Formats: sequence, structure tokens, C-alpha cells
Amino acid sequence: MKKSKFLTSLAVLILLLSFANATMSGPKRPKASKHFVLVHGAGLGAWSWYKIVALMRSSGHNVTALDLGASGINPKQVREVRNLSSYFSPLMEFMVSLPADEKVVLVGHSLGGFAISKAMESFPGKISVAVFVAALMPGQILDAATIYNEASRGSTSQLDNHLTYDNGPTNPPTSIRIGPKYLATDVYQTSPIQDCALATTVVRPFYLYSSDEITKEMVLSRKNYGSVRRTYIVTPEDKVLPKEFQLRMIEKNPPDEVEEIQGSDHMPMSSKPLQLFTHLMRIANK
Ligand SMILES: *[C@@H]1O[C@H](CO)[C@@H](O)[C@H](O)[C@H]1NC(C)=O
Ligand SMILES: *[C@@H]1O[C@H](CO)[C@@H](O)[C@H](O)[C@H]1NC(C)=O
Repeated sequence: MKKSKFLTSLAVLILLLSFANATMSGPKRPKASKHFVLVHGAGLGAWSWYKIVALMRSSGHNVTALDLGASGINPKQVREVRNLSSYFSPLMEFMVSLPADEKVVLVGHSLGGFAISKAMESFPGKISVAVFVAALMPGQILDAATIYNEASRGSTSQLDNHLTYDNGPTNPPTSIRIGPKYLATDVYQTSPIQDCALATTVVRPFYLYSSDEITKEMVLSRKNYGSVRRTYIVTPEDKVLPKEFQLRMIEKNPPDEVEEIQGSDHMPMSSKPLQLFTHLMRIANK
């Protein structure tokens, strides 16, 4: 008697709970959840996306924020990533591991634009759209080496950035570590000071690749790279990759769409996280 009454109550409770669960989580769950893959800029790491990762997870999406070689908590040291293939290998290994029928939204920030370009060239069928956020975006007219040379001219040997000369002082520098002053005045200048403080403690040195290495590795074809839908997100207050430079890449290597985040410095994931999140959702759902 007692046992069957208990079982009936239990059954009712389970039914009620599953109903509540369906009605409560139903409207919150997005229509189609996406898989976003976030690729950081030079010296930064997966950590730089922490606000975007939280926003995406809490709205039910699958997010993978990767550390490239010798970045974030990747165990390699900068001297072990002297070529782009070892620097990009965590992203390439991840792309290989994706099931053939799964398409991701690939997002690259700053130098991460080269990493996603290489992934677009190698895995065009696994990418639904590639998003360049204040990123280096190569193409047929403005090639990767030209873009890289212009970008590094701006940011090396400034303020407290520290250069290392592994090949002797008469040869070009081999790596650079971004200093706290440069982070505060040129990278995170419109972001919350907490984000800049975080960056100051966790940035790592990054390798300065030669033009020859860039030219050799960044071979992009119309058939592969050119077949992936591309969006560019402009950051108008950017002092690392100034707006005029971003617009020139857009003009020479036109993407399918261009968006802009008003008031953003080079780090929209820190200075304008909600706006960046909204743009990424809209782009992914198009
Ligand atoms: C996220 O994507 C990865 C790679 O396809 C997959 O293994 C994992 O199960 C996904 N996670 C969720 C919560 O969907
Ligand atoms: C890149 O560097 C790694 C390790 O330093 C090496 O094993 C690999 O052969 C190099 N790859 C190319 C394409 O040079």
C-alpha cells in the first residue's frame, strides 16, 4: 500500500519536474546552437576571450577557445615555435579532430587572423563562416607578408615592449614581449583596467616570423580560402591595427560582410564584450 502510493507520488513528481524543465529551459535554449572556435592574437591566449566564452556558454552554445603554440597555458616555449606550422598546430589539430559533418564558426583576433586563414585553406568544408576581429586578413591583392610587415612596423620597439635577439644584435629580433605600459596605452586603452591588469600578468613573448616564413606558409587559394564566407569586424579606436589599415585590408581583400564596434580599442572582447557577442551571434545565425 504505502510503497505503491510512494511510487505514484514519485511518478507524478518526475512528470511535473520534466514538464517544468521543458517549459523553463525551452524558450531559453537557442533554436540552433552553434560551435564557436576562438583564436587569440599574438602574445595573448584563450584567456583573452573569457567574457565572450561566458556569454556564449550561458546562451547554450559550444565554445572552444584555443591556446596557440607557446601562448596562454600551452606548454611550449617561444623558441619552440619558430615556424608558423608549430605556432598554429593546436588549431590545426583541433580542426582535424572535428567530425567531417560538423561546421564551426571560426573567429580570429589580430594575428589570429592568419591562423584562421590557414585553417580556412586546409579545412574549408568544416567552417560555416570565418570572422576577422581587428585581425590580419590576407588575400590575393594584399598578401600575408605585406600585411604582416605593416602590422609589426607599428607595434614593435615601442614603449616598454621587450625585444629578444637570439641571432645576435646585428640580426633582426626573434621575439617580443609586450610591456604593461604599451598594454595600457595602446592595446587596452578603452577597456576596464581589470582586464589590462590581467593581461599584464599573463601575456607571453611571441615569435617574430620573417617575411619569407610568412610567404612560404600563408599560401591561400581562391578554391579553398576563397570559398569560405568571411566577415570583418572593425575596431575604430584601435591603436595596434589602426582603422585605416583595417579598411585597406577590407578594400583590397573584400569580405562578404563588414561590421564595426563603436568605441572599441584593439580588444573588443574586453572593451565591448556585449556588442562583440551580439555581432558574433548575428553573423553565426545568418
Ligand atoms: C562541442 O563540440 C565538440 C567538437 O565537435 C564535441 O566533441 C562536444 O561534444 C561538443 N560539446 C557540446 C556540449 O555540444
Ligand atoms: C617547424 O618546427 C618544428 C619544431 O621546431 C619542426 O619539427 C618542423 O619540422 C618545422 N616545420 C617546418 C615546415 O619547417
